[in-house]
Amino acid sequence: MFGKRTHQGPSDAGASVRERPVEAKPEAPARPVASAPRAMLAEIETKVGRGSAPMPPAARPAGETQRNTGRRDDAFYERKSQVFAALIDTIDLSQLAAMDVESAREEIRDIVNDIIQIKNYAMTIAEQEDLLADICNDVLGYGPLEPLLMRDDIADIMVNGAKKTFIEVNGKVIETNVQFRDNQQLLNICQRIVSQVGRRVDETSPICDARLPDGSRVNVIAPPLALDGAALTIRKFKKDKLTLDQLVQFGSISPEGAAILQIIGRVRCNIVISGGTGSGKTTLLNCMTHYIDSDERIVTCEDSAELQLQQPHVVRLETRPPNIEGEGAITMRDLVKNCLRMRPERIVVGEVRGPEVFDLLQAMNTGHDGSMGTIHANSPRECLNRIESMIAMGGFALPSKTVKEIVCGSIDIIVQAARLRDGSRRITHITEVVGMEGDVIITQDLFVYDIKGEDANGRLIGKHRSTGIGRPKFWDKARYYGEEKRLAAALDASNEEAPEGSF
Ligand SMILES: Nc1ncnc2c1ncn2[C@@H]1O[C@H](COP(=O)(O)OP(=O)(O)OP(=O)(O)O)[C@@H](O)[C@H]1O
Ligand SMILES: [Mg+2]
Repeated sequence: MFGKRTHQGPSDAGASVRERPVEAKPEAPARPVASAPRAMLAEIETKVGRGSAPMPPAARPAGETQRNTGRRDDAFYERKSQVFAALIDTIDLSQLAAMDVESAREEIRDIVNDIIQIKNYAMTIAEQEDLLADICNDVLGYGPLEPLLMRDDIADIMVNGAKKTFIEVNGKVIETNVQFRDNQQLLNICQRIVSQVGRRVDETSPICDARLPDGSRVNVIAPPLALDGAALTIRKFKKDKLTLDQLVQFGSISPEGAAILQIIGRVRCNIVISGGTGSGKTTLLNCMTHYIDSDERIVTCEDSAELQLQQPHVVRLETRPPNIEGEGAITMRDLVKNCLRMRPERIVVGEVRGPEVFDLLQAMNTGHDGSMGTIHANSPRECLNRIESMIAMGGFALPSKTVKEIVCGSIDIIVQAARLRDGSRRITHITEVVGMEGDVIITQDLFVYDIKGEDANGRLIGKHRSTGIGRPKFWDKARYYGEEKRLAAALDASNEEAPEGSF
């Protein structure tokens, strides 16, 4: 779940927050929420929302409108604005802030029902519930984002200004009907989200990366840098990480491919997992760490702690962004360098983005076999190029051939993950780095995914297969761990012609 809702004061269900009765002026013209109450609202949003968890499902709109990707009509927002204005006029916000969330919601429910009656709005029960949930979300929670934050099937939430919100579900990015009142409301909610972890986002510090208490990864970029209102991106944290068995069930990898991954994870190959954004790199890295023997000392370095290692002997490290004065940053390079003094047997780097790649390669080269990391690249070959350019950009004045030799001497296997155009995620290559020929690093694919076509529903049909290499370069490592028979069987079985369309 998203954050933790702490009770902010004594429960006072009996007390009323009404300051004055709801105005009985059904014909009163619509007016925007007054600026003074809005300022108070911002205050209450900060007070009540800090450390808050989402509303329970009971408060969800009965019509599940959040699943409907069509937009609500203007009349809904017009009506909501009127009810909201009347509510703000009626309640004492400071009292509401002192109440626990459940009681506050009950109060709001009563008053909103009264307002709807007095204003004589013709609404179905479902519409009323929808309106009520929206208003409660605005006053007590993360506003229009609440319903999305509660859904477990969403991988990413992407808000592009007040009027456009997209989500990724089952690998597909779709637009939702979620809208914010205006850019200020969106910015307030962004501020509330990041303030949970003591961060700030506003015009003076418009970029903010944060990891929430529940592990979700958040990035906000606010105006003036974002031209059309704040852009908020949330990678929701999944408590139940996918396992290799589940990846097999989803067809991301075949059982034989999964066996090869288990073996290379166990036998201390140095592994780089390569893939595009959201292709499943971290998920795969997490899966592969399951096969590390439990007596090995592992140090993990991440920008935002996502890995969940099961072994007993794990030290988890996380980078730190600079403070508001721009000081105090601890970079990934600092962490990886420090790791080397911690007597690790394996180093696992969540995402390699810069010069830390050099330190990781050095570690792989100097007795920390079995280290792993992920890199953003679209193919194994591009991954190698990226590594070389990251080293070049890190200011290491080394001849190109030396860099290639370091890369070649360090990395054993590149596993390529991809999100295909039908939204499915597949492991497309298990590739070995074999050696150098002249100035070129030579690789060989052990296992690949071939796309054969697409079915009537637009889903891609393909097949995982071994390329026929019976003795990979890491054979000796496999034999050292007694895994050579299993490796031979996996490579052999997946080399047989499988029926068309199977994974
Ligand atoms: N094989 C898979 N099948 C279905 N869903 C998957 C698969 N792999 C990952 N996912 C889901 O996709 C989302 C993104 O996965 P993950 O965080 O591993 O991607 P990533 O490549 O590390 O992303 P980023 O580039 O942002 O770091 C997660 O919600 C995850 O649960
Ligand atoms: Mg990742």
